[in-house]
Amino acid sequence: MSLVGGVDVGATSTKSIIIDFKGRLLGRGIGPGVNPFTMGYEAAAEIMVKTLSEAMRGVCEFKDLACVVFGSTGLETIKSRELVKSLIEKKSGISRVFVVTDSRIALEGALGGGEGIVVYAGTGSFAIGKNARGDVHKAGGVGFLMSDEGSGFYLGHQALRAAVRALDGRGERTVLTRRVLDHFGVEIPEELMPKLYVKPIDTSAIAALAPIVTQAAEEGDHVARKIVESAVGELVNLVEAVARKLNMISLEFPLASAGGVFKSELIRGLFCSMIKERLPRAYLIEPRFKPVIGAVIMALKNAGISVEKGLLDELEASQRRLVDIP
Ligand SMILES: Nc1ncnc2c1ncn2[C@@H]1O[C@H](COP(=O)(O)OP(=O)(O)O)[C@@H](O)[C@H]1O
Ligand SMILES: [Mg+2]
Repeated sequence: MSLVGGVDVGATSTKSIIIDFKGRLLGRGIGPGVNPFTMGYEAAAEIMVKTLSEAMRGVCEFKDLACVVFGSTGLETIKSRELVKSLIEKKSGISRVFVVTDSRIALEGALGGGEGIVVYAGTGSFAIGKNARGDVHKAGGVGFLMSDEGSGFYLGHQALRAAVRALDGRGERTVLTRRVLDHFGVEIPEELMPKLYVKPIDTSAIAALAPIVTQAAEEGDHVARKIVESAVGELVNLVEAVARKLNMISLEFPLASAGGVFKSELIRGLFCSMIKERLPRAYLIEPRFKPVIGAVIMALKNAGISVEKGLLDELEASQRRLVDIP
């Protein structure tokens, strides 16, 4: 029973790990993305449990897990988290299951649950912060129609629009036109309509265009560069809103970034310089841990383990074996 699990449930992919009470990584799994609204809570819980069992293969059984924390996209209400928790319990028989938001595990991981702000850009986007009083505030993170500015979805959506504008004469020429159409294997945007305008809308398929945009911007494409700059501006807006709400604007505070979009060096560089300009008191830190490790830290605490330096050092060593996971 001296094992715990952590699962980072995203819209593009789900990542899971198993560690022991000493912080050593014993297993890892990767599974499909989850959208509880379009696929339903039952199917979402199924993917979460399946991806967890992937990390458990050859390592342990459900009954060996003292606690598992799932940090999920889309579960922004207590009611939805309780529902998914009971579905997971029923499917797995794990005795201690916690279902929290993906923002919660990102915060726990990046700042060890301490003060500061984390900005996240994966398929969607949000910023979340905690001040010295323990107040928590989140900005964004309510899906592609209502938020997600600066996210992978945002980059992909802007690329689609730029491609159409270039073709119909409203916009500047850009390499994005060809690359976006090629990505989907079509000749003209009209052919994309039956692929995109379906129910449920596949936000991660659109977010998958994000690396094409950052790549084109790095090669000097003007339109792509503009899109990337506006995305970064939106990510800074998220941070600023959280800092203001938490009365941290005039204080020095650590700021960490997480999520797949920050894999782009261009994004990281622009973000750094825009933060220096607009929020000079924020100091950028590397997130100490990825969200999936944030989830196991919460699981360890819930299993009654005190998370101290030796354990955190071991978790850092474990994290080095997860380089490919955002
Ligand atoms: N090099 C890159 N440049 C820009 N965006 C990227 C890059 N690599 C990955 N991404 C974005 O990151 C997303 C995946 O990030 P992740 O944090 O795993 O998302 P989620 O948690 O929503 O599944 C992809 O959908 C893509 O939009
Ligand atoms: Mg995620």
